Amino acid sequence: MKKLFDNHGREVNYLRLAVTDRCNLRCYYCMPERGIDYVPRQELMSYEEMLRIVSLLAGMGIRKLRITGGEPFVRRDMMDFFHAASSIGALKQIHLTTNGTVVAPLIPELKKLGISSVNLSLDTLDPQRFFEMTRRNEFHAVMQTFEQLLYHGIPTKINAVVIHGKNDADLQPLAMLTKDHPVGVRFIEEMPFNGAGANHAELWWNHHRILEELQRLFPALKKIPDPPFSTSSNYQIPGHRGTVGIIAAYSRTFCGTCNRLRLTPQGMLKTCLYDNGIFNIKDLVRAGASDEQLEHAFLDALGHRAKNGFEAEQNRFGLPVSESMSTIGG
Ligand code: 5AD
Ligand code: SF4
Repeated sequence: MKKLFDNHGREVNYLRLAVTDRCNLRCYYCMPERGIDYVPRQELMSYEEMLRIVSLLAGMGIRKLRITGGEPFVRRDMMDFFHAASSIGALKQIHLTTNGTVVAPLIPELKKLGISSVNLSLDTLDPQRFFEMTRRNEFHAVMQTFEQLLYHGIPTKINAVVIHGKNDADLQPLAMLTKDHPVGVRFIEEMPFNGAGANHAELWWNHHRILEELQRLFPALKKIPDPPFSTSSNYQIPGHRGTVGIIAAYSRTFCGTCNRLRLTPQGMLKTCLYDNGIFNIKDLVRAGASDEQLEHAFLDALGHRAKNGFEAEQNRFGLPVSESMSTIGG
């Protein structure tokens, strides 16, 4: 079976699978208040379809799977899907990105399944600001998930999107979580994926500003080596157990080593976060495609992959970036 390499010589071994576009929060950088027009249920990939595609891709060299959304655990029987995915032998790691609102009671089961790590979205440690940013009152549920993750020793990262005028004051307390906890706190540049197409011309909290602010707050902040294929630039405050990272999601400094593919909940393959979708794998599956035909479609897509997120964005031919992160897969 052919391995997945792109036309720039990059090996692709990581799949980010968005299992639903539904979410029970309304983070304002991701969705408008009224929500987005959710994809009709029959347009979502079924668990069977997703398992077939993941198995096929595992046969082509995908070793790492991230389950994301939307919020994965608002989809019914999500745990069954985790069980099924974790029995795909060629997959070495399964990771989860979650908003942490409903998953706390399931952490022991995820631990038993051998989940590799969890990324928890948490932009603030202040309950009022949490409400302002997510439009929902779920701060304490998310903190419970955080505690469960720590208690069960599951490698955990905190994802915080940094937004001018919203959570500026949270850089310090979030970074301080690394003092006693072995967590990676990652500060993320805001991207224009908010489901509304709002103008995004000036980004205040770009990765330079975030770093300057962290250096101001923690003068001893020290650069540490970044793991291979890392999207974050990583630092440590001396004496702290955890690490601090900055993800230049908008400035796109990390495209050169991109090893990722994305599948949206409706089965659209994206070879870049910023592309417009390459082809719909679910449509091929439902049209009765053989494994060989599906493999060929993946290889063909990777043979025409944009060099980086700027090229991918240009190739949208004027279609602005405006979809919600929850339909892309965060
Ligand atoms: N810009 C940057 N990050 C975003 N996320 C969602 N929307 C955006 C955006 N517009 C992040 C969330 C979450 C992950 C799924 O994607 O913080 O951690
Ligand atoms: Fe939901 Fe995540 Fe989007 Fe927030 S960022 S609304 S938690 S999908």
